[in-house]
Amino acid sequence: MTLAFSTFTMDIAAVKRAFSLVPSGVAVITTRDRDGKAHGFTASSFTPLSLDPLMVLVCIGRNARCFEAFMDASHLGISVLRGSQADVAMQFSSKSADKFANLETEDGPFGSPLIRGAVSTFEGAVAGRFPGGDHMVLTVSVDHMTLEDEGDVMAYFARGFSALAVPAP
Ligand SMILES: Cc1cc2nc3c(=O)[nH]c(=O)nc-3n(C[C@H](O)[C@H](O)[C@H](O)COP(=O)(O)O)c2cc1C
Repeated sequence: MTLAFSTFTMDIAAVKRAFSLVPSGVAVITTRDRDGKAHGFTASSFTPLSLDPLMVLVCIGRNARCFEAFMDASHLGISVLRGSQADVAMQFSSKSADKFANLETEDGPFGSPLIRGAVSTFEGAVAGRFPGGDHMVLTVSVDHMTLEDEGDVMAYFARGFSALAVPAP
């Protein structure tokens, strides 16, 4: 079945369905505020941006409770999840009071909590903040990275999580 819409007749359910049919990875985005309190959220919007200089981007919803913390943050961390970390993805997308409860993290050099067992982690300075409708696009200059080049990575597709095996380099 083919559906066609103009912006005047846009069916929001069809838009959400179309967006859900774009496969993505899943990452947890973290930072610490001035008082040292950790903040984080699950993101499918993490995207590699530039190799020279090394930059990535992530988008944060304006309604997120942690929004102000990320507007103030000088640095943030990104942990790219594995297929077995669906519980971590759910914890960081929940309204839990303490999203870091019962989780093993290790602070990066700039203080962002990074999730143990992640396929890769990135940490760096927030370089730019750009309005994007109900989200803000944050660009990050990466200063620190880790990679465990084996196992699997989490994929998010049609509102479900799955695992993709990491191929040999
Ligand atoms: C798979 C998945 C991907 C998500 N991607 C994003 C994203 O890229 N940006 C975003 O702002 N929220 C995203 N969310 C929703 C946030 O994780 C969720 O709203 C989070 O609770 C916001 O943090 P808060 O508790 O501070 O409000 C995603 C949720 C899931 C389950």
